[in-house]
Amino acid sequence: MGTVHRARDTVLDRDVAIKVMRTGPRVDEEIRNRFYREARLGARLQHPNIVTVYDLGECDETAYIAMELLEGLDWRLVIKEKRRLPATKKIELIAQTCQGLSHAHRHSIIHRDLKPSNLYIHGGDQAKILDFGLARMPTSNLTLTGKILGTPNYMAPEQILGRRCDARSDLFSASIVFFEFLTGAHPFAGPFVPRRIVDGEPELLVNVDPMLPDSLGAIFEKALSKPPDSRYQDGAELANDLLEAAKEVIDEEVAVDEPAPFAGPGSQERAQGGPAPSPSQQIPLSPEAAESETLTTVDAEREMGLREGRD
Ligand SMILES: Nc1ncnc2c1ncn2[C@@H]1O[C@H](COP(=O)(O)OP(=O)(O)OP(=O)(O)O)[C@@H](O)[C@H]1O
Ligand SMILES: [Mg+2]
Repeated sequence: MGTVHRARDTVLDRDVAIKVMRTGPRVDEEIRNRFYREARLGARLQHPNIVTVYDLGECDETAYIAMELLEGLDWRLVIKEKRRLPATKKIELIAQTCQGLSHAHRHSIIHRDLKPSNLYIHGGDQAKILDFGLARMPTSNLTLTGKILGTPNYMAPEQILGRRCDARSDLFSASIVFFEFLTGAHPFAGPFVPRRIVDGEPELLVNVDPMLPDSLGAIFEKALSKPPDSRYQDGAELANDLLEAAKEVIDEEVAVDEPAPFAGPGSQERAQGGPAPSPSQQIPLSPEAAESETLTTVDAEREMGLREGRD
């Protein structure tokens, strides 16, 4: 939803990230409401592992959210480019993410769209959760009729099936991302991932990376259980178990890839002390369209053969 740019707040004299979305009369009111909800919910959360929202506004039929500008790279890039990081460092970033989620959940806010592009490594060693755009208060009466919103390859089974989601659904989604971040492999890889998430067993960690300790494998088995009651109930509990297991991890001797500095157009000039971009020269932070599928219930059911005429 929207595009993210680097921009300059000329009043407070600082660089910010700005997420913009057209809001003219033809834009679906529900999408517009979601955009506003993202900023409002995000603004309620103050945590070192959640991106800070500064401002929300609308100008010339464009809504915007100004937020803390992160410097580093998102997890999608780490996975896609097979960036090398020591396993213990990855586990530390994963544990921080769990703490951020635990904070949001304690405020009754669930994310609903955890995926690699919504997690970030800021400043080399700080995990940040982005985009509470699909978050919803569990008690909210905002209904998203007929639609499952989120990225199906990272959804919990109950979310794919259009059932009620809660904090445990977030922890399931996050654990898919954690598994992929740690090993490079999606635990439910296959021809149609959502069906495997609903029906299939996750890949065992030991099959993907035999160097990782069994204790870590056991954590993923629990985190990726189908019944929410069998999973971790709290992000802080998952973080503690992960950090305990990390003590048994022996890092391979690999050259570590430092996060590439921001490499958008004009970055070189800025690195040499050149002018910062003004809002009119906003530089996209998301030059590539990342995976941001939304799936309707009908699509999901048809794909899984739950609709008439299939299977
Ligand atoms: N505050 C920020 N600071 C720096 N980079 C950011 C910030 N917010 C987002 N980005 C970058 O922009 C990328 C794209 O974000 P965006 O939310 O537009 O797309 P997405 O996550 O792929 O899809 P969706 O719109 O479904 O969330 C992020 O993955 C991240 O790399
Ligand atoms: Mg995003």
